[in-house]
Amino acid sequence: MNGVFFYGVGIGPGDPDLLTVKAARVIREAKVVVVPRVGKETGSTALAIAGAYIPEKTRIVQQVFPMAYDAMTLQEAWQKNADEITGFLQAGKTVAFLTLGDPMLYSTYIYMHDIIVKQGFQVETVPGISSFCSIAARLGLALGEGDEILSVVPATAGEEVLDKALEFSDNMVLLKASHHYDRLVDSLARAGRLDGAVLVDRCGLPGETIRHDLRNTDKANIGYLSTIIVKKKSARKEGKRL
Ligand SMILES: C[S@@+](CC[C@H](N)C(=O)[O-])C[C@H]1O[C@@H](n2cnc3c(N)ncnc32)[C@H](O)[C@@H]1O
Repeated sequence: MNGVFFYGVGIGPGDPDLLTVKAARVIREAKVVVVPRVGKETGSTALAIAGAYIPEKTRIVQQVFPMAYDAMTLQEAWQKNADEITGFLQAGKTVAFLTLGDPMLYSTYIYMHDIIVKQGFQVETVPGISSFCSIAARLGLALGEGDEILSVVPATAGEEVLDKALEFSDNMVLLKASHHYDRLVDSLARAGRLDGAVLVDRCGLPGETIRHDLRNTDKANIGYLSTIIVKKKSARKEGKRL
C-alpha cells in the first residue's frame, strides 16, 4: 500500500473462503480494521466471517450502525463513525472497513465512503461477492439467461414499485426479505410468481436455510440476512435457443 488509505472491503456473503485475494491482503496490511454491527449487544457477522484474516496486532474497532429509519439517528451514527475513522487516517493509519457482500450494494459503507471522500482522503473500494450471486450458485439457479431481465429490489421499496418490477422482470432478487414479508408474498402470489420463488436465509453461514414454500413459512423464523430469488421458467430447460 502506498500512503494512507480508507479501504471499503467486500468480504462476501458468509463463507470465509469467498473473500477475494485482494480483500485478504488489504485486511492483513491495514493498521485498523473497522467492523460494523447493528447494536452493542449483537455480535458482528463481518468479524465472524473475516476474523481469521485479521492479524493479532491489528486494532479492531467495532462500530454500531443502528437499524433505524429516522434520518437524524442515522446521520448522527454515520458522522460519529466517520469522525472516528478520519481520526485514524489523520494519525497515518490505513483503515479497512469490512462490508458483507459487495460494498457498493445497499451497504452502510456507501455513506462512510461519501463522507470520507469529501474530506479529501484516499479511498479505495475492494469489490466482494454479493449475497445474491452466492445464493444463485448455492441453488444452481441462473440469475439471467439469454435476454432475460434481472431486477434487484429491496423489500423496503413500496408495494407498487415491486408489483411494477414483477411485471417486466424475468428474474428478481428481493433483498431484506424479512421486512414486509407478508406483503412480499402477496405481491408474488398476485403476479403468479410464488412457484418460482425461493427464500435463502444466512447463505454460507451457520444456520443457513432454504425455503421453497414461502406461503407456509413462519415469518418469525426469517432473519435479516434473508433474500428471495424469483425465477421464471428457464428457456434453457424448455430446450429453447437462448
Ligand atoms: C444491507 S443489504 C447488503 C447487501 C450486500 N452488500 C450484498 O452485496 O449482498 C443486506 C441484505 O443482503 C442480503 N444478504 C446479505 N448476506 C446474506 C446471506 N448470507 N444470505 C442471504 N442474504 C444475504 C439480505 O437480503 C440482507 O437483508
